[in-house]
Amino acid sequence: MSTPTAPRNTPQTPPAPPEATPVVGQPLPHESATLHVTGRAAYCDDLPEPVGTLHAALGLSPVAHGRLHGLDRERLLAQPGVVAVFTAADLPGENNVGPILHDDPILADGTLRYLGQPVFAVVAHSREAARRAAALASQVLHIEPLPAQLDLRAAHAAQDWVVPPMHLTRATHPGGVDQALAEAPHQLTGHFSLGGQEQFYLEGQISFALPQDDGGLLLHCSTQHPSEMQALVGHALGLPLHAVQVSCRRMGGGFGGKESQSALFACVAALAAQRLNRPVKLRPDRDDDFLITGRRHGFEFDWTAGFDDQGRLLALEITLLGQAGHSADLSPPVMTRALCHVDNAYWLPNVALHGYLPRTHTQSNTAFRGFGGPQGALVTEVILDTVARHLGLDPLAVRQANYYGVGERHLTPYGQPVVDNVLEPLTNELLTSSAYARRRAEIAAFNVGSPWVKRGLAFSPVKFGISFNVNHYNQAGALVHCYLDGSVLVNHGGTEMGQGLNTKVAQVVAHTLGLRLDQVRCSATDTSKVANTSATAASTGADLNGKAAQVAALALRERLCAVAAQGWGVPASEVQLHSGHAWAPDGRHLAWALLVQQAYLARVQLWADGFYATPGLHWDRQTLTGRPFYYFAYGAAVSEVELDTLTGEWTLRRADLLHDVGASLNPALDIGQVEGAFVQGMGWLTSEELVWHPVSGKLLTHAPSTYKIPTAGDVPDALHTRLFQNRNAEDTVHRSKAVGEPPLLLGFSVFLALRDAVAAAGPAGCQPPLRAPATPESLLNALDAVRSPAPPAAPGV
Ligand code: MTE
Ligand code: MOS
Repeated sequence: MSTPTAPRNTPQTPPAPPEATPVVGQPLPHESATLHVTGRAAYCDDLPEPVGTLHAALGLSPVAHGRLHGLDRERLLAQPGVVAVFTAADLPGENNVGPILHDDPILADGTLRYLGQPVFAVVAHSREAARRAAALASQVLHIEPLPAQLDLRAAHAAQDWVVPPMHLTRATHPGGVDQALAEAPHQLTGHFSLGGQEQFYLEGQISFALPQDDGGLLLHCSTQHPSEMQALVGHALGLPLHAVQVSCRRMGGGFGGKESQSALFACVAALAAQRLNRPVKLRPDRDDDFLITGRRHGFEFDWTAGFDDQGRLLALEITLLGQAGHSADLSPPVMTRALCHVDNAYWLPNVALHGYLPRTHTQSNTAFRGFGGPQGALVTEVILDTVARHLGLDPLAVRQANYYGVGERHLTPYGQPVVDNVLEPLTNELLTSSAYARRRAEIAAFNVGSPWVKRGLAFSPVKFGISFNVNHYNQAGALVHCYLDGSVLVNHGGTEMGQGLNTKVAQVVAHTLGLRLDQVRCSATDTSKVANTSATAASTGADLNGKAAQVAALALRERLCAVAAQGWGVPASEVQLHSGHAWAPDGRHLAWALLVQQAYLARVQLWADGFYATPGLHWDRQTLTGRPFYYFAYGAAVSEVELDTLTGEWTLRRADLLHDVGASLNPALDIGQVEGAFVQGMGWLTSEELVWHPVSGKLLTHAPSTYKIPTAGDVPDALHTRLFQNRNAEDTVHRSKAVGEPPLLLGFSVFLALRDAVAAAGPAGCQPPLRAPATPESLLNALDAVRSPAPPAAPGV
């Protein structure tokens, strides 16, 4: 557009303005849907490589624990194609990628802390050559092996924790939790063992660093947290942050695994690029990615519950051991979120929770969808299931009897009242639509007539707190540009990992400016456009960045309406933007692009920034009390399984999901998130098993051949997913709610249904000691236990 055309007003008496076509709330396709399915969506590794690009590979520790006495650098340099070798000593700045504590070296510096820890980087002309040389690690490293601590309970017994223990206690009983336990009509104790989970993002970790002419660096990185990558690269290389630019167009999934743990790859690629003054790409293959990076924390729980005849929990004490691995990484806030989700949907009048993060010589565990929340909530679901079986009640009835209520019964253990609870109507709606009661009876009848194949049914609810527990993370920024042809470009601090954040943010901007979605585009996330951003995590992407973009778009709307109003001689407050036009109350209208051009000629600023900080949050890290969450998201699921008790194989016959996303910004994306999260949660609790060699400490399940994520074939034909009709009680963007993580907890219902099916194989009142994941092996163990003549005295595994 060279010369903007002069604005024209339309004739005086046109028909009334047409109804605005809504953009927000519509099931519009993901902004990259066509690119995804045609294979044209470009990921980091698809970027064209400038001439001279080199490739890095990491040499990994072959022992779980040891002292490093040196390496045979010459031998590595003599390998074909190898250009350089770097170790920790080559880092000009800080050798650390720990996001909270500075306890996480980029490259090992004397002590080897887990099998798979990167010790050196080889840079070569091709990725293949770099990998071949790096694979010589066990031959070139001089190591003195030391005894490794691989056992979570043993590390706990040795009181070796990555951070001090955390305690969350609340008692309404004047005698405290102990007294409440002692006075409860019934007591049970048990333990529960819960495995971790690999993120298994389809696009692995990758960083591509390009040196700039003035000593700066441009880094393309598959990361949920570009600002953190910028900061850690700056610290590692001794560069001011204005010299480090991090860009991420999209990720092929992150699931929490690229929140902090993309940093090691970013720092190594950046180091090599800086030292060699050449573009350097680092893309570990899947096996190395498994061996290097951490994942969801496995947990061990020991619990004691006191309850009444209806199964109402009167007192609960739980010790939670979370498998941190060798360093803190994000384990402290993961544990905080676990502690803040033990209540799940339930009023716990007297509760004492003790969270420990023992240190083991394994990968450092990190964020994964739910961030500890699922682990905390699941133990309570298992306890309630155990209580129900003990009392001979339907677990559904026991769950409902424990639901949060009103008055005192709506205070969480951390002191935040639950004021937006929709679980009662949501539960009733789902019980009806899933025909729970009828199927419960049918399944009981089926099981009586079927000695070897058993069916199980379970209902489970979700309440999930939205916001980062760390207060200052709850902020976001956005930048919105209007170009003279009327097209609009949005940049915001969030990252796109498949969840549809860019689509939602573009919808919000299009709605605010009265445009079609195709008139608005989100560009790659870039630290040079919006600074000091938070990780796209805690499901807050749309809440935070949607609001920030809305603030920016509202500023533009105000300026542009003022321009139109001046032309028409009407108050600016009476001008509306919709259907691609500005409208006067009398129907006069002006096309959006013409309005933008008119504003340009009038020298009105055509770009705006927006900032948003979630209001009302506070958190006391010492007492673990406050208002950590802006609001809660709710949901519930009913799942039915069929278990072959001779082989431990099973199928999910049917699942009904009802989930609360407030007023949905985009029901198509939200249903995709609900279903994806449900299947991912189911995979965690059933087929995905992590096994470390008990002596060497090697992660044996480090590839899809041995680590089984669910496939399309595991999704039941009868999957009924619906969004609960609701509006956020808080003033979120268009009254929507976060959706990314909460529905992962819907997958509990599959695990609990399997527990139900195992119980059906034993005598009435038996307690299936089913550990998670409920692999065929663990199911057969649990079946053996319930069928053995002398059932174990204590429930649990
Ligand atoms: N969906 C897809 N397709 N890919 C992902 O990596 N990550 C999940 C969830 N949904 C993820 C996803 C996680 S862990 C989070 S915290 C949220 O998306 C982050 O995005 P949001 O805040 O925009 O919902
Ligand atoms: Mo999600 S675990 O908060 O990246």
